[in-house]
Formats: sequence, structure tokens, C-alpha cells
Amino acid sequence: MVTASPTRPMSNLWRMRSYIRPRLWTMFWMLLTAAVGTAAGIAVPLVVQHVVDGPVRHHQLAGLLLLGGLALLLGAIEAGLAFIRRWTQSAVALDTEYEIRRDLYTHLQRLPIAFHDRWQSGQLLSRLTTDLGVIRRFVSFGLIFLVVNSATYVTVTALLLHLYWPLGLVVAVSAIPLFLFSKRFTHHYLKTSRLQQDQQGDVATLVEESAQGIRVIKSFGRRRHMGRRFEHAAGQLHDTGVAKARLLARTWAEFDTVPNVTLAIVLVGGAYAVATGALTVGGLVAFVSLQLMLVWPIDSLGWIIANGQEAMTAADRVYEVFDQRPSIVDRPGAVAVPRKEIAGRLRFEGVGFRYPGAAQPVLHRIDLTVEPGETMAIVGVTGSGKTSLVSLVPRLYDVTAGRITLDGRDIRDLTLHSLRDAVGMAFEEATLFSMSVRENLTLGRADATDEEIAEALAIAQAEFVHDLPWGLETRVGEQGLSLSGGQRQRLALARAVLGKPRVLVLDDPLSALDVYTEALVEEALARVLRGTTALIVVHRPSTVALADRVALLADGEIAAVGTHSELLATVPEYRAVLSASADLSEAAR
Ligand SMILES: Nc1ncnc2c1ncn2[C@@H]1O[C@H](COP(=O)(O)OP(=O)(O)O)[C@@H](O)[C@H]1O
Ligand SMILES: [Mg+2]
Repeated sequence: MVTASPTRPMSNLWRMRSYIRPRLWTMFWMLLTAAVGTAAGIAVPLVVQHVVDGPVRHHQLAGLLLLGGLALLLGAIEAGLAFIRRWTQSAVALDTEYEIRRDLYTHLQRLPIAFHDRWQSGQLLSRLTTDLGVIRRFVSFGLIFLVVNSATYVTVTALLLHLYWPLGLVVAVSAIPLFLFSKRFTHHYLKTSRLQQDQQGDVATLVEESAQGIRVIKSFGRRRHMGRRFEHAAGQLHDTGVAKARLLARTWAEFDTVPNVTLAIVLVGGAYAVATGALTVGGLVAFVSLQLMLVWPIDSLGWIIANGQEAMTAADRVYEVFDQRPSIVDRPGAVAVPRKEIAGRLRFEGVGFRYPGAAQPVLHRIDLTVEPGETMAIVGVTGSGKTSLVSLVPRLYDVTAGRITLDGRDIRDLTLHSLRDAVGMAFEEATLFSMSVRENLTLGRADATDEEIAEALAIAQAEFVHDLPWGLETRVGEQGLSLSGGQRQRLALARAVLGKPRVLVLDDPLSALDVYTEALVEEALARVLRGTTALIVVHRPSTVALADRVALLADGEIAAVGTHSELLATVPEYRAVLSASADLSEAAR
């Protein structure tokens, strides 16, 4: 997915000034050192002019040494200041990059799941890495050189006009083709660099996807197919890069001819002027040396423009993320209710839900009450909306019709923090992070005691943890020890029940367990469920037995509610769903 929005040149880059503002003084000193350094550089040819026209012409050794010493001193000042400037400007740029990255990450964490459903992770990855790198380079080089080079250009041109105005005018007029070339270049380059940055995001997505899905790819023998897909995306990125380089090279060549042609004119015209006595030899030497100082600022113009444009598109891409408003936030006046004060009466009142951007709602007019301490099982065929339904309880998504209440209060009137503190959740896909088992377990309960952890592990039948090489401190997840699907599910279950949530939401959390372990988990879980309001998505008759009542979900609607035996006796559809899934899970073993 390429999320190109109409580019608003400059505006987003300009918005980044808040990151620069605290460093304005440093930037100012950098510019000052740059200006002084450049001035020292410009002064050298003028000293040379006096050397040539004075001591050299009149054979005065003392004067020669004095002026030579001055030129040396100026050169040393220029070098020293350049060193200080480069050093501080890297620090400023790195600080800026760090702060934007930190804020962007924080912002990403606050965005709703719906945002992450829509955005490819590779696009986020490339924005957090490549694009911020581009912005850093702009802050550390592009911006400074833009100012310094422009100032140099103006100063030197003024000096040249002052030294000998007819030739100075030639140099001044050469700015016109430069302006025309840069205008055309800017126009083309902006589009190309945006395309390249988007394609970088696509390539990152492909790499990430295939790293995560490597088992599937290998087992289906799809390596070659995936390779071709990747080659296509990488090829496009390559082509855009080449087109960009060609554009840059052509512009560079155009820019380069300008000072060279001007120099040729100046040399011929200057020789003539010296011959007629309009200009001294020293004057001509100074003129040419000064004019040579313009070659670098002109040559680098292409690079600076390119850098600036890339920074603009990078800023656009970064702000596309910043501009996404977190839609699931505390309402004004939301109250914080401590977990202990929540009785746990959960009610769905005429709830409807449609995924953002989807045409059809997936849930319609859901009315369901779970009394405090009651366990309600949700049963339904795949795609009937079970996961969608339970995701609404901790507000991973917000209802689009009706409301959900907890103890009679709309859950949107609770602070997100207190709602999520009261609700414990485990999903079908058990995600573990690259941290220790303990950190994974206490993700939502940093204050959990060792006893609570031990209890949660016992309920989830996850005591295998104690046999891991470093027990609770063993690192798991991507960068750590690999656990089996069943082990991961049990840890995720322990995480959900840790610290006795008032409402427990489990989305098919036992699907990867063997019958024997499942029976043990159910036995232990039954004890916890006695005091907890629970909404549990299940598909095996054995797990359904844990529930006080069952709700049958069909096509996003509640088709029936009752006890397991009631439904078995009166609702043929219920029997069909349960036996079909039971058969399936038997067959899967
Ligand atoms: N993130 C999503 N965005 C859009 N549609 C979704 C999303 N997740 C699920 N759906 C759709 O919602 C419907 C119900 O899905 P789900 O709640 O996962 O069902 P179940 O858990 O019962 O298998 C499906 O048709 C599915 O395609
Ligand atoms: Mg599901």
C-alpha cells in the first residue's frame, strides 16, 4: 500500500521547527562559526591580492612574510571553525532525530488497532528509520550549507562586483541559468524521491513478512515465488534509484558548466583588463581565486536541493503518521474506577460494529448480559464475529452502535487505564515479546508479587517455566528461547489471569493445547472463573462445560442464549457448530 498524499511542499518540514527550537542558540552559533570561517576563507584571496600587488611587485621580504603569516592564520581559523561546526551540527541533528523518533513511536503506541490494520508495518518501519535519517542529514548538512552557501554566493558576488564590476556582472548574471536549472530539477525530483521512499517501505514490508512467515514459505515450497515477488519490488526500487541518480547527475553536470563557462569568460576578459590597465595582476589573481570559491557552493546546489526535497517528502511521510489522531481515548469527564470497586456486570446493549473502512457491519444488535462472576461462552462458526465481539470489551475497537456497560456505566466513560486494568485478556495468537518470562507475564501488572505470578502460572498449567534454563528470567520471544504454541498460549493465559482481573476475556485461548493439558487448565481455570465475570470464546464441548451460559453467534447476531444443555436440546444449529468443531479439533490431533 502506497499511502501517497498530495505533497504540500515545505509545510510539513516547517512543522518540524519545534524540534529545532530548543537548539536555536546552538544553531545560531553554528551559523556564526560557519559565517566567520567562510569570511576567513574569502579574506585569503584579498590578502593574496595585496601580496601580489605590494611585496611581490616591489620585492619586499618583510611585508611578504607578514602578509603570508596573515593568510596562514586566516586559513587556520577557517579550519578550526569548520571542525567545531561539523561536530556540533552532528550532535544537534542526532538529538533532533532521536526526539522525533521517540515521539513517533509513542504516537504509534497510542494509535488504535484500526490504524495498524490499515498500515503495513514496513511502511512504519521505513518511516521510523530511513525517513528520519533523511531528515537528520538535512538538519546536519542541507540546512546549514543552504544558508552558508547562499551567504557565500552573495558575499563573493558583491566582492567581485566591487573588485571589477564588468566581470562581476558576468558572474552575477550566471545565477539566472542556475535558477532555471534548479527549478526544473526541483519539480522532477520531489516526485521521484517520494516514490522511492514509498517503495522502500514496500520492500521493508516484504522482508518483514517473509521473515515472519518463513515456515509457511518453506513448507509450501514458495521460496522461488516469494523471491520473484521480492525481486519485482526491489527492482522497482532500483529503477527509481537509478532514475533519481540520472536526474541528479544531469543536473550536476548542468550546474557544473555554469562556473566553468563563467571562468573562461573571466580569464579572457580579465587578461584584457590587465593589459589595458583597468585591473592589476593582483586584482585578477584575487578575482579568479574568489570566483573559484563559488564552484563548490554551485556544485553542491544540486545536492542541497535534492537533500531538501527528500527531507520534505520524508517530513510528509512522518507527519502522515503524526496526523493520525488516536481515536480511542479517554472521553472528557471519564472516571477512573479502581479495580476493587468493580463488581463486573457486563452488558452489551444493542451493540453494532463495523470495521473502519468496511462496507458491512460484522455485528448487529447484540444484547447480552453477563452477571458478576458469571462465565459466558461464545460459540459460533469461523467468521461469525466472535473475535470482533470480545475485542470491544477492552476497547481495542469502539462500538459503532449501541453501548457496552460495566456495572451500568458506559465503558467509554471509564478511563482507558482503569478499564484495561479491570479487564484481563488473552488472544488466540499468543504474542510474547523479546523479554524475560517475568516481564512478559507482568506486562499489564508491573506490581504483581511472586506469589501472584506462581498462582497465575499454576492456573495456566505453565509450570514448565520453572524448568527453563533461567526460570522466570529466561528471555523468550523473537530474540530469545522459542516456545511451542501450547507453551505460548499458557503463558498468555497466565498473563491474562494474573492479578485477578474483574472481567476476563479469552478468545479461544486453549486451541493449541493437547487434551490432557487442556483438561488440567480447565480444572484450574474453573476455580478462577467462579469469582470473575468472563467472556470466553470456545469451540470444544469440554471447554463449554466451564461456562454458566452459552451465547450462540451466527452472522454477527446472537442466535440463542442459554445453558449448554438447554441449547443442545433446543437449538439444532448449536449442536451442529459444536460437533463440527469438535470433529475438526479431533481430526487435527
Ligand atoms: N481487522 C479487520 N478489519 C476488517 N474486517 C475484519 C477484521 N477482522 C475481522 N474482520 C471480518 O469480520 C468478520 C468476523 O471476524 P471475526 O470476528 O474474526 O470472526 P471469528 O472470530 O468468529 O472467526 C469476518 O468476516 C472478518 O473478515
Ligand atoms: Mg476468532
